[in-house]
Amino acid sequence: MRNSPRDKQRTPWARRGLATAAGLALTASLTVAATSASSAAERVDNPYEGADVYVNPIWSANAAAEPGGDAISDQPTGVWLDQISAIEGNDSPTTGSMGLREHLDEAVAQAAGEPMVFQVVIYNLPGRDCAALASNGELGPDEIDRYKHEYIDPIAEILADPAYADLRIVTTVEIDSLPNLVTNVSPRETATPECDEMLANGNYVEGVGYALAQLGAIDNVYNYVDAGHHGWIGWADNFSASAALFYEAANTAGASPDDVHGFIANTANYSALVEDNFSIGQTVAGTPVRQSQWVDWNQFTDELSFSQALREELVSQGFASDIGMLIDTSRNGWGGPDRPTGPGPETSVDAYVDGGRYDRRIQSGNWCNQSGAGLGERPQASPEPGIDAYVWMKPPGESDGSSEFIPNPEGKGFDRMCDPTYEGNPRNGYNMSGALADAPISGHWFSAQFQELLDNAYPPLN
Ligand code: BGC
Repeated sequence: MRNSPRDKQRTPWARRGLATAAGLALTASLTVAATSASSAAERVDNPYEGADVYVNPIWSANAAAEPGGDAISDQPTGVWLDQISAIEGNDSPTTGSMGLREHLDEAVAQAAGEPMVFQVVIYNLPGRDCAALASNGELGPDEIDRYKHEYIDPIAEILADPAYADLRIVTTVEIDSLPNLVTNVSPRETATPECDEMLANGNYVEGVGYALAQLGAIDNVYNYVDAGHHGWIGWADNFSASAALFYEAANTAGASPDDVHGFIANTANYSALVEDNFSIGQTVAGTPVRQSQWVDWNQFTDELSFSQALREELVSQGFASDIGMLIDTSRNGWGGPDRPTGPGPETSVDAYVDGGRYDRRIQSGNWCNQSGAGLGERPQASPEPGIDAYVWMKPPGESDGSSEFIPNPEGKGFDRMCDPTYEGNPRNGYNMSGALADAPISGHWFSAQFQELLDNAYPPLN
């Protein structure tokens, strides 16, 4: 993928193919011919391995228009189909104007001899975002038939077009949905009536199952199911139960576990990839790190350890032994001048953990436009065992939600977790939200956040 060491391994033949327009056309036609001859080819184990990844021209232009943005504007980011109209292309100021087919055509054009990964986010469940308001969507809680037939079916039809058979299409399926049915339902204190309703009517599980079945039937589609992040399902009570629910969804509405290529962690979240300065097994001043205020009995301190352990758990609950994980590292870098350079003092477990942690959120349940965040690891294939890739599924610079109510035609609500003056709710332990001020509605361009992400990138930008 772009900017990875593998770029240097391109064959001279591929480079020659790029040299002229005619050469490019020839390369493309040869590639298509080769693919049709082998269209029954098995999926590869890791679609990112040896591949380039599609650069969304719309996000790329937004990034390049920012001061300093050209340092990252050639990075691959996810294409979010966040409403039915996004399939054809709509007027959304950030993501609109190119429909799914136009993105796929552009991905075919970007392919230059190496396999090309196209990353698309499936994100339009009935009753979407049941524990928050910022990404409520267009479909009501009972509109499962519209989800199936006006959203998933048209997407599946387009993805199955033989013109795209040569792409490796990575779908990430329904961000922040199934874990809500584990953690934000009665009788827990964190329950919301909306999540109770989505558990009772079964439409999250039905919708995810249907998406997996329809998209998984296409030979070159690689489905990755959303798996929250460690600060959500890393607690023992949530961990196995979430894996069990993922398995149930993968056996619903015609899906089978074979339709699942893997899972994605940390999508659009801010949890640090690796916390070097403390670990879960340590005891400091007589108290285990697990009992520090920050870790709060979680079983994990970071996304890498969580993702690797969740992979094992998923396999033990029935998923294929070769599933792979993706980790969204778009905004979990936490660099800049405030990044700790070593562990905190050993005077107390809280001083130790708080002094050493990279993740500088007020609480790990905070999620909206987090102040102080930076870009994380650049997208790359096979970074660690069990991890297919680090990806930027959330396009950096696109807001998580507005800091005050802004009327809009997208169904987006105003969630006070995006308001910097908010003092919290049970899902963040009644802490301040830590959100940046003056944010636009979710998905819209947020220049001030983009600038901060550049400034606080870790690894730093060159
Ligand atoms: C929004 C989507 C947007 C996505 C990517 C989500 O929070 O609800 O509309 O496409 O983020 O920025």
